[in-house]
Amino acid sequence: MKIFTSVNDVTNIDEMVNEALMLKKDPYAFSHLGKNKTLGMVFLNPSLRTRLSTQKAGMNLGMNTIVLNMDKEGWALEMNDGAVMNGSSVEHVRDAAAVLSQYCDIIAIRCFAHMKNKEEDYSEKIINQFKKYSTVPVVSMEGSTLHPLQSFADVITIRENWNKKQKPKVVLTWAPHIKPIAQAVANSFSEWMLKTDVDFTITHPEGYELSEAFTKGAKIVYDQQEALKDADFVYVKNWSCYTDYAKIACTDSSWMLTNKKLEVTNNAKVMHCLPVRRNLEVSDEVLDGANSLILQQASNRLFSAQAVLKKILETK
Ligand code: CP
Repeated sequence: MKIFTSVNDVTNIDEMVNEALMLKKDPYAFSHLGKNKTLGMVFLNPSLRTRLSTQKAGMNLGMNTIVLNMDKEGWALEMNDGAVMNGSSVEHVRDAAAVLSQYCDIIAIRCFAHMKNKEEDYSEKIINQFKKYSTVPVVSMEGSTLHPLQSFADVITIRENWNKKQKPKVVLTWAPHIKPIAQAVANSFSEWMLKTDVDFTITHPEGYELSEAFTKGAKIVYDQQEALKDADFVYVKNWSCYTDYAKIACTDSSWMLTNKKLEVTNNAKVMHCLPVRRNLEVSDEVLDGANSLILQQASNRLFSAQAVLKKILETK
């Protein structure tokens, strides 16, 4: 594996899940693999889980890790080829990525959507420019449209909590929020679910349809209670509108997930990638209840990252 920016970079999801579960049992079994190798982690946005889990994953594999908070400590990057750089940007991504490639054996990058221009965000310009100008493998720690390390951890978590023969019913439900949040987690979760052996439904208010590029094949149900019926897993996430880009079209607090809502499910386990706005997206009683998987998901972020880095180190 030389690139990890979406589910399409994974040849066999089942094998990758097995690899992650093996690493979870024995995290230091491959601590020789990254000896004298450096993981460079470039952040253009804040993070708790992604930063610490990816850094720890590299360390478990014996890698040195360098974190660059590019948004605060680095030069403002120019992303457009051929730009006349007489504005606020100081360094071209062409030079920055080439220089980082001299210091690092793998470059991981977090670069959220700017939520202003759909075409620009959905072109994944920043990740693609890093891919173009780096001479070492590039890993997405969340781009404008996808969050594959999170989705991989979510698939691991579902596997750990499902041992029946039939497919589990997995429901991704929209939740209220006060800010226009990117569609990346929802897009990515959908993309991974559609390549996994589950019965997958998405529920959201009208106007919140995600891009078909990531949801083709999913059932879309506008009635949340109908969608939740017999669910085995409920994944809660807010996102802003895709069509009327970055708009908040619904503030209906009745979309918050509560225990009452879960009564129609098959005693569903509840998931959220975190950070979560408590009692806005999901009630405390659900998040802190027996069926909440939020901490297990966060724990599995370590092993999704470690499985990806291991695969890349083995490929080089
Ligand atoms: N779930 C997730 O990516 O968390 P952070 O934004 O804190 O990294």
